[in-house]
Amino acid sequence: MKKIENVAVLGAGTMGHGIAQICAVAGMKVVLRDIADEHLERGMAGISKSLDKLLSKERIDAATREAALANLSTTTDLPQAVENADLVVEAIPEKMALKVETFRALKEHAPERAILASNTSSLSVTEIAAASGSPERVVGLHFFNPVPIMKLLEIVRGLSTSEETVDAARAFSERVGKEAIVVNDFPGFATSRLGVMLGCEAIRMLESGVASAADIDKAMELGYRHPMGPLRLTDLVGLDVRLAILDHLHRELGEQFRPPALLRQMVRAGKLGRKSGEGFYRYD
Ligand code: CAA
Repeated sequence: MKKIENVAVLGAGTMGHGIAQICAVAGMKVVLRDIADEHLERGMAGISKSLDKLLSKERIDAATREAALANLSTTTDLPQAVENADLVVEAIPEKMALKVETFRALKEHAPERAILASNTSSLSVTEIAAASGSPERVVGLHFFNPVPIMKLLEIVRGLSTSEETVDAARAFSERVGKEAIVVNDFPGFATSRLGVMLGCEAIRMLESGVASAADIDKAMELGYRHPMGPLRLTDLVGLDVRLAILDHLHRELGEQFRPPALLRQMVRAGKLGRKSGEGFYRYD
């Protein structure tokens, strides 16, 4: 299989721009695509800020920062974004209809050699792959927030994903400095299924008045050495993202994943966590 030189990342949100950043730092040419210029501008600003942080901590040098920025370009045009891609990583919202529509478009516009990946955190890679018309080259590449810092890459093997595609995903993981696990396609994979359960239970505890948000978080931070408590983490991930995952897992796996009413209410109120300025905590 050809070495991955050109990457198209679809979606410039938190995950998309993080993925674009680490590919660009690893020396790949990256086209970041979103549906509106303002999303792209916000994504590029996020990349700039993160590269500055990495530079100030001496995790990268100035030349790497410059080279990474030079490797990045943006567009709102999907066919143009993917026309030269060896790898396409989709990081659009967690809605199956949108993913299916995107992978149908990739069938038409991406080169036949390209590996087609989804950053979905819980949806069926097999179902997404079916829309592409060539499911053997479709794989889940599930990254973690903040993408430049978190070491794990969860590679998800759909029912028809070929071994060649999994091998290419492993090689890509190494190039972008991640450690991979390979899991079979099952709702919530190996990560989200456990991760959202902890967050979900923390929200239920808050609802029933067990303790304050700060104390529930402190319990896990100091008592279990989690880097951040489950409510603070839900704010980081996004309450809307967590709700979408829970809704899906509730449908697929049953009652234990029923989303707490408080979570749904907060999403309805626009309290989405860090990105909206308020979730279980307030942010400036
Ligand atoms: N870009 C670059 N550097 C960053 C960064 C970013 N976006 N975010 C944090 N950093 C760096 C900081 O500069 C700092 O560097 P040093 O260690 O060199 O000082 C380091 O990361 C730690 O950051 P902070 O000191 O600001 O804060 P912290 O020590 O509390 O760490 C954290 C922050 C890395 C987010 C840590 O709290 C943590 O690991 N939290 C858990 C995150 C997690 O569980 N993520 C998975 C979420 S689930 C998901 O993403 C999947 C899904 O499907 C929804």
